[in-house]
Amino acid sequence: MNNVYQVAENCLYDNGNVDSLLTLTHQAKQKDNSHLLTFEDNSPVLAISGVRFPDKPVLLSPRHMPKRNLGSKAGVIAFFHAIAHVEFMAIYLAWDLLYRFRSLPLQFYQDWLAIADEEAQHFELIRQYLRTFDVDYGDLPAHGGLWDHAVATADDLLARLALVPRCMEARGLDVTPSIIARFTEFRNDQAVSILNRILADEIMHVERGSYWFNRFCVEVKLNPEQHFQAMVNKYYLGGKPKGPFNREKRKIAGFSDAELDWLEAH
Ligand SMILES: [Fe+2]
Ligand SMILES: [Fe+2]
Repeated sequence: MNNVYQVAENCLYDNGNVDSLLTLTHQAKQKDNSHLLTFEDNSPVLAISGVRFPDKPVLLSPRHMPKRNLGSKAGVIAFFHAIAHVEFMAIYLAWDLLYRFRSLPLQFYQDWLAIADEEAQHFELIRQYLRTFDVDYGDLPAHGGLWDHAVATADDLLARLALVPRCMEARGLDVTPSIIARFTEFRNDQAVSILNRILADEIMHVERGSYWFNRFCVEVKLNPEQHFQAMVNKYYLGGKPKGPFNREKRKIAGFSDAELDWLEAH
Protein backbone atom coordinates (compact mmCIF):
# COMPACT_ATOMS: atom_id res chain seq x y z
CA MET A 1 0.00 0.00 0.00
CA ASN A 2 2.06 2.92 -1.30
CA ASN A 3 -0.64 5.41 -2.27
CA VAL A 4 -1.11 8.03 0.42
CA TYR A 5 -4.89 8.25 -0.07
CA GLN A 6 -5.22 4.47 0.22
CA VAL A 7 -3.28 4.54 3.49
CA ALA A 8 -5.43 7.43 4.68
CA GLU A 9 -8.60 5.55 3.76
CA ASN A 10 -7.36 2.53 5.66
CA CYS A 11 -6.60 4.62 8.73
CA LEU A 12 -9.94 6.40 8.67
CA TYR A 13 -12.41 3.82 7.40
CA ASP A 14 -11.18 0.23 7.81
CA ASN A 15 -9.57 0.64 11.09
CA GLY A 16 -11.00 1.32 14.48
CA ASN A 17 -7.86 -0.33 15.90
CA VAL A 18 -5.42 1.77 17.89
CA ASP A 19 -2.24 -0.22 17.20
CA SER A 20 -2.77 -0.63 13.47
CA LEU A 21 -3.50 3.10 13.14
CA LEU A 22 -0.15 3.88 14.79
CA THR A 23 1.71 1.36 12.63
CA LEU A 24 0.12 2.53 9.38
CA THR A 25 0.87 6.15 10.25
CA HIS A 26 4.55 5.58 11.04
CA GLN A 27 5.01 3.34 8.01
CA ALA A 28 3.52 5.95 5.70
CA LYS A 29 5.89 8.63 7.03
CA GLN A 30 8.89 6.31 6.63
CA LYS A 31 7.83 5.49 3.07
CA ASP A 32 7.56 9.17 2.29
CA ASN A 33 11.03 9.76 3.74
CA SER A 34 12.33 7.06 1.36
CA HIS A 35 10.35 8.49 -1.60
CA LEU A 36 8.28 5.30 -1.80
CA LEU A 37 4.92 6.93 -1.22
CA THR A 38 2.81 8.03 -4.20
CA PHE A 39 0.36 10.91 -4.12
CA GLU A 40 -1.68 10.07 -7.20
CA ASP A 41 -5.32 10.98 -6.71
CA ASN A 42 -7.04 8.03 -8.35
CA SER A 43 -9.74 7.04 -5.86
CA PRO A 44 -12.99 8.70 -4.77
CA VAL A 45 -13.28 10.47 -1.41
CA LEU A 46 -15.68 8.61 0.91
CA ALA A 47 -18.21 10.48 3.07
CA ILE A 48 -16.98 11.56 6.48
CA SER A 49 -19.99 9.87 8.11
CA GLY A 50 -18.35 6.48 7.47
CA VAL A 51 -15.16 7.18 9.47
CA ARG A 52 -14.68 4.48 12.13
CA PHE A 53 -13.28 4.86 15.64
CA PRO A 54 -12.26 2.29 18.24
CA ASP A 55 -15.00 0.94 20.54
CA LYS A 56 -13.14 2.34 23.54
CA PRO A 57 -12.88 4.89 25.06
CA VAL A 58 -16.54 5.48 25.77
CA LEU A 59 -17.28 9.07 24.77
CA LEU A 60 -19.02 11.50 27.09
CA SER A 61 -20.12 15.08 26.75
CA PRO A 62 -17.46 17.44 28.21
CA ARG A 63 -19.92 18.41 30.99
CA HIS A 64 -19.63 14.89 32.37
CA MET A 65 -15.84 14.79 32.47
CA PRO A 66 -14.46 14.70 36.04
CA LYS A 67 -12.48 17.60 37.51
CA ARG A 68 -8.80 16.80 38.08
CA ASN A 69 -6.27 17.59 40.76
CA LEU A 70 -2.89 17.36 39.03
CA GLY A 71 -1.14 16.69 42.36
CA SER A 72 -2.96 13.38 42.93
CA LYS A 73 -2.33 10.09 41.17
CA ALA A 74 -5.96 9.83 40.07
CA GLY A 75 -5.78 13.38 38.71
CA VAL A 76 -2.58 12.70 36.75
CA ILE A 77 -4.14 9.58 35.24
CA ALA A 78 -7.37 11.38 34.34
CA PHE A 79 -5.47 14.31 32.81
CA PHE A 80 -3.15 12.17 30.69
CA HIS A 81 -5.96 9.91 29.58
CA ALA A 82 -7.81 12.99 28.38
CA ILE A 83 -4.71 14.23 26.55
CA ALA A 84 -4.13 10.77 25.04
CA HIS A 85 -7.60 11.06 23.55
CA VAL A 86 -6.87 14.53 22.18
CA GLU A 87 -3.69 13.21 20.54
CA PHE A 88 -5.47 10.12 19.24
CA MET A 89 -8.13 12.27 17.62
CA ALA A 90 -5.40 14.55 16.26
CA ILE A 91 -4.05 11.57 14.27
CA TYR A 92 -7.49 11.17 12.68
CA LEU A 93 -7.81 14.92 12.11
CA ALA A 94 -4.45 15.08 10.30
CA TRP A 95 -5.28 12.07 8.14
CA ASP A 96 -8.72 13.44 7.32
CA LEU A 97 -7.32 16.80 6.23
CA LEU A 98 -4.91 14.99 3.94
CA TYR A 99 -7.56 12.57 2.63
CA ARG A 100 -10.61 14.76 2.06
CA PHE A 101 -9.18 17.70 0.13
CA ARG A 102 -7.50 16.79 -3.17
CA SER A 103 -5.55 18.46 -5.99
CA LEU A 104 -3.47 20.63 -3.66
CA PRO A 105 0.33 21.10 -3.67
CA LEU A 106 2.40 18.02 -2.75
CA GLN A 107 3.87 19.90 0.23
CA PHE A 108 0.40 20.21 1.75
CA TYR A 109 0.06 16.41 1.89
CA GLN A 110 3.60 15.94 3.16
CA ASP A 111 2.98 18.48 5.92
CA TRP A 112 -0.15 16.72 7.20
CA LEU A 113 1.46 13.31 6.92
CA ALA A 114 4.37 14.57 9.06
CA ILE A 115 1.83 15.99 11.52
CA ALA A 116 -0.13 12.70 11.67
CA ASP A 117 3.16 10.96 12.46
CA GLU A 118 3.99 13.46 15.24
CA GLU A 119 0.50 13.10 16.72
CA ALA A 120 1.05 9.34 16.80
CA GLN A 121 4.35 9.94 18.63
CA HIS A 122 2.59 12.22 21.14
CA PHE A 123 -0.04 9.57 21.71
CA GLU A 124 2.61 6.90 22.27
CA LEU A 125 4.55 9.05 24.76
CA ILE A 126 1.41 9.53 26.82
CA ARG A 127 0.35 5.92 26.51
CA GLN A 128 3.73 4.74 27.81
CA TYR A 129 3.38 7.08 30.77
CA LEU A 130 -0.20 5.90 31.49
CA ARG A 131 1.01 2.31 31.43
CA THR A 132 3.37 3.06 34.33
CA PHE A 133 0.12 3.48 36.30
CA ASP A 134 -1.32 0.25 34.79
CA VAL A 135 -3.78 2.31 32.77
CA ASP A 136 -4.21 2.04 29.01
CA TYR A 137 -5.93 4.31 26.53
CA GLY A 138 -9.60 3.36 26.53
CA ASP A 139 -9.77 2.41 30.21
CA LEU A 140 -11.47 5.72 31.09
CA PRO A 141 -14.20 7.64 29.26
CA ALA A 142 -13.16 10.53 27.02
CA HIS A 143 -14.43 13.83 25.61
CA GLY A 144 -16.89 13.19 22.80
CA GLY A 145 -16.80 16.47 20.86
CA LEU A 146 -13.43 16.35 19.12
CA TRP A 147 -14.71 15.18 15.73
CA ASP A 148 -17.61 17.66 15.49
CA HIS A 149 -15.65 20.44 13.77
CA ALA A 150 -14.24 17.96 11.25
CA VAL A 151 -17.75 16.84 10.27
CA ALA A 152 -19.04 20.43 10.10
CA THR A 153 -16.18 21.45 7.77
CA ALA A 154 -15.93 18.31 5.63
CA ASP A 155 -16.83 20.24 2.45
CA ASP A 156 -14.81 23.40 3.02
CA LEU A 157 -11.02 23.33 3.14
CA LEU A 158 -10.67 26.92 4.40
CA ALA A 159 -13.20 26.28 7.15
CA ARG A 160 -11.37 23.10 8.13
CA LEU A 161 -8.01 24.90 8.37
CA ALA A 162 -9.55 27.78 10.32
CA LEU A 163 -11.35 25.50 12.77
CA VAL A 164 -9.08 22.52 13.31
CA PRO A 165 -5.47 23.71 13.39
CA ARG A 166 -6.27 27.38 14.04
CA CYS A 167 -8.94 26.93 16.75
CA MET A 168 -8.74 23.45 18.24
CA GLU A 169 -4.96 22.89 18.09
CA ALA A 170 -4.22 26.57 18.83
CA ARG A 171 -6.10 26.20 22.12
CA GLY A 172 -3.30 23.91 23.28
CA LEU A 173 -0.79 26.76 22.90
CA ASP A 174 -2.87 28.87 25.32
CA VAL A 175 -3.46 26.28 28.04
CA THR A 176 -0.39 24.01 28.00
CA PRO A 177 2.18 26.46 29.51
CA SER A 178 0.17 26.89 32.72
CA ILE A 179 -0.37 23.11 32.99
CA ILE A 180 3.40 22.64 32.61
CA ALA A 181 3.86 25.17 35.42
CA ARG A 182 1.50 23.17 37.67
CA PHE A 183 3.36 19.90 37.00
CA THR A 184 6.65 21.73 37.67
CA GLU A 185 5.30 22.77 41.09
CA PHE A 186 4.41 19.14 41.77
CA ARG A 187 7.90 18.10 40.60
CA ASN A 188 6.43 15.71 38.03
CA ASP A 189 9.40 15.74 35.62
CA GLN A 190 7.98 13.15 33.28
CA ALA A 191 4.75 15.07 32.79
CA VAL A 192 6.73 18.27 32.21
CA SER A 193 8.96 16.67 29.61
CA ILE A 194 6.06 15.08 27.69
CA LEU A 195 4.11 18.33 27.64
CA ASN A 196 7.13 20.42 26.61
CA ARG A 197 7.73 18.11 23.67
CA ILE A 198 4.08 18.26 22.62
CA LEU A 199 3.90 22.04 22.96
CA ALA A 200 6.97 22.56 20.76
CA ASP A 201 5.47 20.39 18.01
CA GLU A 202 1.99 21.88 18.30
CA ILE A 203 3.28 25.39 17.63
CA MET A 204 4.45 24.10 14.26
CA HIS A 205 1.16 22.27 13.56
CA VAL A 206 -0.74 25.51 14.08
CA GLU A 207 1.86 27.32 11.98
CA ARG A 208 1.23 24.91 9.11
CA GLY A 209 -2.51 25.55 9.50
CA SER A 210 -1.92 29.31 9.33
CA TYR A 211 0.44 29.00 6.37
CA TRP A 212 -1.94 26.95 4.23
CA PHE A 213 -5.01 28.92 5.30
CA ASN A 214 -3.37 32.21 4.32
CA ARG A 215 -1.96 30.84 1.09
CA PHE A 216 -5.24 29.29 -0.09
CA CYS A 217 -7.16 32.45 0.83
CA VAL A 218 -4.81 34.59 -1.24
CA GLU A 219 -5.11 32.16 -4.16
CA VAL A 220 -8.88 32.70 -4.29
CA LYS A 221 -8.54 36.45 -3.58
CA LEU A 222 -9.96 36.36 -0.07
CA ASN A 223 -8.54 38.52 2.72
CA PRO A 224 -7.17 35.89 5.17
CA GLU A 225 -7.90 37.88 8.35
CA GLN A 226 -11.46 38.65 7.32
CA HIS A 227 -12.06 35.12 6.14
CA PHE A 228 -10.73 33.64 9.39
CA GLN A 229 -13.32 35.71 11.25
CA ALA A 230 -16.03 34.63 8.83
CA MET A 231 -15.15 30.95 9.25
CA VAL A 232 -15.06 31.16 13.05
CA ASN A 233 -18.37 33.04 13.08
CA LYS A 234 -19.95 30.44 10.83
CA TYR A 235 -18.56 27.18 12.20
CA TYR A 236 -17.15 27.57 15.71
CA LEU A 237 -19.42 25.66 18.07
CA GLY A 238 -20.10 27.90 21.05
CA GLY A 239 -19.61 31.27 19.36
CA LYS A 240 -15.91 32.12 19.46
CA PRO A 241 -12.79 30.59 21.05
CA LYS A 242 -12.30 31.68 24.65
CA GLY A 243 -9.11 33.25 25.98
CA PRO A 244 -6.81 34.04 27.56
CA PHE A 245 -4.71 33.66 24.43
CA ASN A 246 -0.97 33.09 24.39
CA ARG A 247 -0.10 35.89 21.97
CA GLU A 248 3.60 35.09 21.88
CA LYS A 249 3.15 31.46 20.89
CA ARG A 250 0.23 32.17 18.58
CA LYS A 251 2.30 34.76 16.72
CA ILE A 252 5.04 32.19 16.13
CA ALA A 253 2.21 29.94 14.89
CA GLY A 254 1.16 32.49 12.26
CA PHE A 255 -1.57 34.53 13.92
CA SER A 256 -1.52 38.24 13.08
CA ASP A 257 -1.98 40.96 15.71
CA ALA A 258 -5.29 41.85 14.07
CA GLU A 259 -6.53 38.25 14.42
CA LEU A 260 -5.44 38.14 18.05
CA ASP A 261 -7.08 41.50 18.78
CA TRP A 262 -10.29 40.23 17.24
CA LEU A 263 -10.17 37.00 19.25
CA GLU A 264 -9.57 38.94 22.45
CA ALA A 265 -12.37 41.47 21.84
CA HIS A 266 -15.77 40.48 23.26
FE1 LIG B 1 -0.23 16.47 19.31
FE1 LIG C 1 -1.15 18.81 16.62
